[in-house]
Amino acid sequence: MTDNIYNPEYVKRLFNGMSSSYERMNYITSFGFSIRWRTEILKPFQKDNHKIEVIDLLTGMGETWNSIKYKFPNANISALDFSSEMLKNAERKNEDHFKNEVNLIQQDILQSKLPSNHFDFVICSFGLKTFNTEQLEKLASETKRILKADGQFSFVEVSKPENTILKGFYQFYLSQVIPIIGRLLLGNPTEYKMLWRYIDKFENAKLASEIFRNVGLKTEYRSYFYGCATGFIGQKPEK
Ligand SMILES: C[S@@+](CC[C@H](N)C(=O)[O-])C[C@H]1O[C@@H](n2cnc3c(N)ncnc32)[C@H](O)[C@@H]1O
Repeated sequence: MTDNIYNPEYVKRLFNGMSSSYERMNYITSFGFSIRWRTEILKPFQKDNHKIEVIDLLTGMGETWNSIKYKFPNANISALDFSSEMLKNAERKNEDHFKNEVNLIQQDILQSKLPSNHFDFVICSFGLKTFNTEQLEKLASETKRILKADGQFSFVEVSKPENTILKGFYQFYLSQVIPIIGRLLLGNPTEYKMLWRYIDKFENAKLASEIFRNVGLKTEYRSYFYGCATGFIGQKPEK
C-alpha cells in the first residue's frame, strides 16, 4: 500500500471516506489554526474589488471560500476537487452561503480541462501532501498554464515544524492521538492514520516551492506558526 498512497484513485477514496468528518477533524488536527492559515496565506496580496477570476484548487468542502470572498469580494470563484463526497458538501455550502455563485468543477487537477491563461489568482490549501514529486511537477505546470500573465498564487500545507520539541509533540499528536479521535468520530481510524504518513513524507513545502520556481513561476517560500504549516506565494511572470 505504501507505494500506492499517491495513486489518485486511492486519494479519492480516502477523501470520499473522510468527508463526513473532515471539517471537524481538520479543525482538531490543527488546533483551530487551519482557519487562521487559510486567511493568512492571502495576507500578502492586495484586496481587489474587481470581477477577477479566482480558482480554489483541491477545494474540499469549500473551506477557503470565506477568505477568498473577503479578499476578492466580487471575484468569480471556481472550485475544483475530484472527490464526489467532498463536493456534495461543497454544493451544500454553495447553496446555503454563496447563492450558488461558486462554479464547482469535479476534475482531477493532474488531467484537468481548465482553460489556459484564464485565472488571476490560484489558491490551494492543504492539498499538497497527497502528491509525489512527479505529481507536484504536473501541478506546478498546470498552475502556470491556467494563470494569466502576472496572475498570482498561494499554496499552504500542514508541515513538520523545525523545532525538535514541537515536532515531537506534533508527530505524537497527529500519529497517535488523531487516529483515536478519528475512531471515535468515524468508527475507523485508518483514514486519519494516513494524515501523519503523508505529512511525514511531505515534511514541508520547500521542495514544492522549488518545483514551482523551476517551471518558471516567481515563488517565495512561507512558514506559518513555527513551521506547523508551510507554503509559498508567487506570480506568473509577464513572459
Ligand atoms: C486535505 S483536503 C483540503 C480541502 C480544503 N482545500 C481545505 O482547505 O481544507 C484535499 C482535497 O484535495 C482533493 N484532491 C486530492 N488530489 C486531487 C486531485 N488530483 N485532483 C482533484 N482533487 C484532489 C481531495 O479530494 C480533497 O478534497
